[in-house]
Amino acid sequence: MTRAVPKAEIHCHVEGAASPDLVRRQAEKYGVDVSSFLDEAGYVWSDFTSFLAAYDGAAALFRTEEDYALLAETYLSDIAAQGTIYAEIFVSPDHAERSGIGTEGYLAGLGTGLERARRASGIECRMIVVGIRHFGPQAVEAAARFAASRPHALITGFGMAGEERFGRVADYARAFDIAREAGLGITIHAGELAGPESVRDALDHVRPSRLGHGARAIEDPALVERIAREGVALELCPGSNVALKVFDGWEKHPFEAMRKAGVKVTLNSDDPPHFGSSIGHEYEMAARTWGYDAAMLTGFTRTAIQAAFVDEATREKLL
Ligand code: ADE
Ligand code: ZN
Repeated sequence: MTRAVPKAEIHCHVEGAASPDLVRRQAEKYGVDVSSFLDEAGYVWSDFTSFLAAYDGAAALFRTEEDYALLAETYLSDIAAQGTIYAEIFVSPDHAERSGIGTEGYLAGLGTGLERARRASGIECRMIVVGIRHFGPQAVEAAARFAASRPHALITGFGMAGEERFGRVADYARAFDIAREAGLGITIHAGELAGPESVRDALDHVRPSRLGHGARAIEDPALVERIAREGVALELCPGSNVALKVFDGWEKHPFEAMRKAGVKVTLNSDDPPHFGSSIGHEYEMAARTWGYDAAMLTGFTRTAIQAAFVDEATREKLL
């Protein structure tokens, strides 16, 4: 029923979007044993820490420009076939360095993948550089400096992912100042693994226009009110939250409660094959769980495009 709904995805980690099939092919190509994080049924993990290990294991199998072009093109073509017209992918200079390709080859390869997908399906895509919180404030600041000092037409935002319970947000504020001064859109993962305090810290110290998740703000009604009042958009990822046991099932997820409270809500898949999801599945499950019709779902897509880190001319075309 949701196949024909135009979709937008503004919260997806590119390395986390690698399908098990693609990862198996990469593992064969490089002769790597992936049995510690991948079996016949898919990715294997049991909590956030082992999820991150599976994520890093898959990421390490992309090592050349063509590997990254293929990764981005495969993901974007797949979501375009699900009705997606716009996507933003999180890209990580730290993972580029770890895989040995370095940041230039990484961006060149991803850029090629974005262009191939756009030519084939018309899907528009932009990149958000992320720092990884559990690598520490210096690493996140280096990621921000990289994003700020290397103008690239398709890099339009800066964010922070990783272990939200690591460190204090205030220690990362400088990284966000650097990115903001460079004109990049700002988002930060908060309210996924930690509660309202973490979200409040993120709002106070980082002043983002969007929050990655933000779901656990629901534990504090005054905070939900603040998010609504300040017009901060939530990149909600219900399937991810349910898989990681942040909430005990779709019906317990606060997506609808946030919407009713006047918060700008969007639907996203985060790391789709890790969580048995896809952007199409998120829209379908939202329709089934909360009874949304096509017009409501299209409204979430419009919210995402309004909150997107994209030039005004492209935004107008997409709306
Ligand atoms: N990196 C990839 N997926 C993530 C998630 N769900 N939370 C934080 N960091 C991530
Ligand atoms: Zn995420």
